[in-house]
Amino acid sequence: MRVIVCGAGGKMGEKLIASIESGYCGASVAAAIDINMPTGNYPCHTDIFDVAVDADVIIDFSHHTAIGRLTEYAVEKKIPLVIATTGHTEEEKALAVAASEKIPVFMSGNMSIGIALLMELVRRTVEVFPDANVEIVEVHHNQKIDVPSGTALMLANAVKEVRGGEFNIGRHENGKRTQSEIGIHSLRTGRVIGEHEVRIDTGSQTITLKHESHGRELFAEGALCAAAYISVLEKGLYSVSDMIGRDCK
Ligand SMILES: NC(=O)c1ccc[n+]([C@@H]2O[C@H](COP(=O)([O-])OP(=O)(O)OC[C@H]3O[C@@H](n4cnc5c(N)ncnc54)[C@H](O)[C@@H]3O)[C@@H](O)[C@H]2O)c1
Repeated sequence: MRVIVCGAGGKMGEKLIASIESGYCGASVAAAIDINMPTGNYPCHTDIFDVAVDADVIIDFSHHTAIGRLTEYAVEKKIPLVIATTGHTEEEKALAVAASEKIPVFMSGNMSIGIALLMELVRRTVEVFPDANVEIVEVHHNQKIDVPSGTALMLANAVKEVRGGEFNIGRHENGKRTQSEIGIHSLRTGRVIGEHEVRIDTGSQTITLKHESHGRELFAEGALCAAAYISVLEKGLYSVSDMIGRDCK
């Protein structure tokens, strides 16, 4: 599986290339793209349209604004696209959806299989306790750009799909908590890779479901697993929950 790595010079891009070089999923780097990295160990470009080699899949860990060029290129070349970048606007997400009508597109705010499992457990718990208060606390390093994290929004959306409700991000106003709201709280501190805790409080008991990332490898490995997964699929929009139970190595 030949991979075009977008965002190759960033923290995740470097981890992804390291995972590929370690032999994960039998992948190889076809080309590296980064607006700030014109040279490197692989054919490197600042614009994906300059890539002149064949590839089986594109994995994007760059910036949400890259999505226009990426979807345009992926559709034109008919290459499956894994979008691991977070922070997209609704208009940018629509570009991914439109591309998925022509090619396989995998999009997930968190590539970890453990997070996919956490989402399932959260959904199940909220089904059992539909009136419980749900509060999500996410902790990340102090360089993270988007707030709240894409994963916190995925978890909140999972709750919303089961029972409705509106997000209350940060809770800045005075006043009592409403029954239907889903509270999301973001901490930015030090070098924390990523922690997500969902507190489900029925009034008489609290169920706390928590995932902690110990390194960035799990996202790189999840992205490669996703790439292998969609590289044999038809057009469509896929996410990390589709991968639960798959053998990834
Ligand atoms: N889905 C997941 O599991 C997951 C996990 C970790 C990080 N992320 C997301 O991945 C993205 C990258 O994270 P990071 O920590 O590596 O960030 P980073 O800032 O370290 O790296 C981003 C890289 O992308 C490059 N870049 C910026 N705009 C670009 C463009 N238009 N085209 C090509 N390259 C461009 C930058 O020069 C930089 O080298 C973020 O959106 C982050 O939230 C997702």
